[in-house]
This record gives sequence, C-alpha cells and structure tokens, in this order.
Amino acid sequence: MATSSFGVTRFMCSTQCLPYFDLYLRKKLTVLSRIVWFYDSSGVQAKRYFGSLYEPILFCVRDPENYTFNAYDIKVSARTGAERKLIDYRKPVPTVYSSSKVPGNVWEIPRVRYRMPEYEEHPTQKPVALLERIIKASSNPGDLVLDPFAGTFTTGFVAKELGRRFVGIEIEEEYVKVGLRRLNIATHFNGELLVKPLKTYDSAYNERETTPMLLEK
Ligand SMILES: C[S@@+](CC[C@H](N)C(=O)[O-])C[C@H]1O[C@@H](n2cnc3c(N)ncnc32)[C@H](O)[C@@H]1O
Repeated sequence: MATSSFGVTRFMCSTQCLPYFDLYLRKKLTVLSRIVWFYDSSGVQAKRYFGSLYEPILFCVRDPENYTFNAYDIKVSARTGAERKLIDYRKPVPTVYSSSKVPGNVWEIPRVRYRMPEYEEHPTQKPVALLERIIKASSNPGDLVLDPFAGTFTTGFVAKELGRRFVGIEIEEEYVKVGLRRLNIATHFNGELLVKPLKTYDSAYNERETTPMLLEK
C-alpha cells in the first residue's frame, strides 16, 4: 500500500520485502520515520516460527525542508504511569510536563476484526484509526490523498470524513464495489444493489438462513 498527499508518502508492504524497499526508496526520497504498526493478535497462529504482530510503514518526504506534518492534530496522551502531574525542575521556572505528545514510531492499533462495525470482506483491511493518524498528520482539508492499492477503500473513507479529496485505484471489482458503497458514491454497480453483507450474528442474517426451511414445511 502507498498513500500519498502533498509531497508526503507512506509505504506499507510485507515485512520481508520492506528492507529492500527501504534501500530503494532512500535513493529517491527522504525516509523520515520507520513506523511499526503493532497489533495484539496475529491472523495466523504460527507454531514453528514467531508469528508476525506488526507491519512496517515508511514515512517519506520529497523535500525534508517543506512537507506537511500536523503534530497538534495527532497528539496522544503522554502516559507516565504517575498519578500526580510531573514537574520538570530543570526549567528556570518549574513547569508541569506536557500531558500530550506526538506519537512515537511504534503504533499500537488493533487489527480489523469481524465483529467490528468497520469490517469488510478483505484479507488485509486496514483500520480506520491507522489511516486517521496518517491522513491527519500528512494532509490538510482540501488536499488530495492517493491510494493506488485501495482494497476496501479505508484511505478514501477516512479522507472523505476528514474533508480531503481522494483518488483510489483497485484492480478487483469486488473491492471497487465496497469502495463505491463505503464512500457513498453509488448505490448500484452494473444493476447490482450495493449493500454491506450481514454478519452471522445479525438477526436478519439468521432469519434469511431459516426462512427457506420454514417455507418448505
Ligand atoms: C493490502 S490491500 C489494501 C488494503 C486497503 N488498504 C484496505 O484498507 O482495505 C492491496 C490491494 O491492492 C489491490 N491491487 C493489487 N495489485 C493491484 C494493481 N496492480 N492495481 C490496483 N490494485 C491492485 C489488491 O486487490 C488489494 O485489494
């Protein structure tokens, strides 16, 4: 995946490939941060190796002297573990430490799970929270965000919510349909009504499953 806006580009790819990609990109762009998106549970429960619990993200800029970085829009709580406010006594006038900070380069954000409302049927759907941080940091309202491997169009969904413009490219028709629905662009595709599939625990899903049997009786 790559998202790009105003001279800032984020690349995500498999952990195995990323080192090669990193070396390649260094010749073209400036890699400012190597981010680890870490999550709580691996999709595959590895038994003979250490299962992957993270995905790497390269935060690159074209011009390190001129790029968008909205630090104030992405601040998180600066957890110290202390119950009382900590005072910095090294300052000429003792000052309370800031209670918020720009996130470091390790981001703990849960993966998208079936029971989450944002879930779509795609093997590598990215969480809204991940894209929110990326888009808020690296673009301003009205900017154009590009995702050339759009999948379920999480990038576009978040870009739209945040008032950015969006261009997404996706090769699989099924995922294009998800994007059209998720971004409220169209209600139909080639005559097909675009609706989000029901979850197995939705009452309507169970009614749908049992109705034919009842009719047979
Ligand atoms: C890692 S997924 C992206 C997931 C996405 N970020 C999301 O939140 O759902 C990559 C997507 O790129 C699409 N893709 C692969 N090759 C492509 C190509 N040459 N052009 C456009 N899309 C492509 C795949 O079909 C897949 O849905």
